[in-house]
Amino acid sequence: MTTTEQRGMTNRTRVFLLALAAALPATGCRQKMSDQPYHRPYEASDMFSDGRASRPLETGVVHRAQFLESDPLVSGLTREEWARVYARQANPKLDLTTPTPIENREAAVTLPRYDQRVAANPKVYVEEFPFAITSNDLDRGQERYTIYCSACHGALGNGQGKIWERGYLVPTSFHTEIVGTHEKAVSNPSATPLGYSRGYSLWDIKIPLREAPVGYYFEVITKGYGGMPSYSAQIPPADRWRIIAYVRALQYSQHAAAGTLPPKLATEVNAAPVNATNKAGGHP
Ligand code: HEC
Repeated sequence: MTTTEQRGMTNRTRVFLLALAAALPATGCRQKMSDQPYHRPYEASDMFSDGRASRPLETGVVHRAQFLESDPLVSGLTREEWARVYARQANPKLDLTTPTPIENREAAVTLPRYDQRVAANPKVYVEEFPFAITSNDLDRGQERYTIYCSACHGALGNGQGKIWERGYLVPTSFHTEIVGTHEKAVSNPSATPLGYSRGYSLWDIKIPLREAPVGYYFEVITKGYGGMPSYSAQIPPADRWRIIAYVRALQYSQHAAAGTLPPKLATEVNAAPVNATNKAGGHP
C-alpha cells in the first residue's frame, strides 16, 4: 500500500535509505565474525570423548615464569634429595638412590626431608646461594630481615625481638654466643644449646645454626618451623635468599676469625679497648 508521504519522498531521503540498505549486510557480517561460537572454561561439549570443552594440560607443562619445584632456587634442596624424594614416593621399600618419574612429585613434596636410612651423610639442602650475592642484595636482605624477621629474631639475630616479651616462644639465636645485654635474662625453652638448630636436633644432629646450610634456612622461611610461621606468601624466593645472606652477615659479624679481617679493620679491632660490657657478652 502506498501513501501520500511515500510518494512525496524527497530525493535526499531516497539516497539515505539506499545507503542504509547497502550498509546493513556489512554490519551483519561484522557482528557474526566478532561473535563466533566458543566454549567457556569447564563448559560441557560433545566434541571430545571426555565431554569437556577444555583440554587437559600436557604432562610437564609449566607456566612461562614458573620455576620447577625441584629447582634449588625455589626449594633450597639439592637435586639428589629430589631424586630420593621421588624414589621414596614411587616405592617406599625401594633403594633410595633411584630416581622416580616426575609425575609422582605432587605427593612427594609432603614427605619428610631427611631420612636417616640414607647412607653416609646425604646432602639434603644446598650449601651455596643459587645466585651470586651482591652488596645490593645484602642491602635488600637487611631491609627485608628488618621487616619480616627482626620482630621475633631481633635486629642482632639473637632471638631477642619484641615478640617473646609478650609470651611468644623465644626463637633460636643465630649465634652461639650471647650478643645482647638483656639476653641472659631469657631462659632458652629448648634443650638445644644456644645457637644450635632445633630442627636438626630432631634428627639427632647437633649443629650450630651458623653451620646449617643455606638451603635449610630457605626451607624454614618457606615452610615455617615449629612455633615459627611460614613466610612463603609474603616473601618471594629471591628475597628469601637475600635475607639468608644478611643472616650470614649477622653471624659473621659475631664470629669472624681475626685473621680473615681486612688489615685496616683488623688494626681498628685490635686497638679497640675491651670494656666490661663486651667481656660480659654485651653489645655496645
Ligand atoms: C612470629 C615470630 C617469628 C618471625 C617473624 C620469624 N621467626 Fe624464625 N623462628 C621463630 C621461632 C619462635 C622459632 C623457634 C621455633 C621452635 O623452636 O619451635 C624460629 C626459628 C627459626 C630458625 C631456626 C630453626 C631451627 O632449626 O632451630 C630460623 C633459621 C629462623 N627462625 C629464621 C627466620 C627468618 C629468616 C625469618 C624472617 C624471614 C624469621 N625466622 C621470622 C619465630 C619467628
